[in-house]
Amino acid sequence: MKVLMVCLGNICRSPMAEGIFRQKALEKGIDLHVDSCGTANYHVGEHPHPPSVKTSGKHGVDISYLIGRQFSHYDFDKFDIILTMDQSNYQNVIALAQNQDGISKVKMILNYSYPKSNMNVPDPWYGEEQGYEDVFQLLDQAADDFFIAHFDE
Ligand code: 4NP
Repeated sequence: MKVLMVCLGNICRSPMAEGIFRQKALEKGIDLHVDSCGTANYHVGEHPHPPSVKTSGKHGVDISYLIGRQFSHYDFDKFDIILTMDQSNYQNVIALAQNQDGISKVKMILNYSYPKSNMNVPDPWYGEEQGYEDVFQLLDQAADDFFIAHFDE
């Protein structure tokens, strides 16, 4: 299975999601391909924002090596599931879908933990360092619920 994480800048939320999902898959011995990107191009080619790297590292998840890239409509063909961090990312991604098959791949990541709530992962970019820890906890729980939903573990 191939999963793509999407946020706005690809330097805060989606790289954390990528690192968390990849690590849990490795620990569980599940063959999961994980990538992340942003809907915007502001931070293409950059490593994740330092507080994202620091917070993830505290929990044993290394994301320092990741490099930002922008979402492309080709991603609809490359991935089975596209997980958006907030409703704005969701709208921006489905606007690029060519067909219903593409649209059906796109899901709000927190719906795994809070079904049908369409809750946003709050963007920590504008706030304090605690916001990054809050995001990590939300994504860690979402990852656990994702593996239960798709792999029964
Ligand atoms: P992210 O956070 O979407 O979680 O990566 C942001 C990073 C950068 C900006 C906005 C959000 N920005 O406007 O540059």
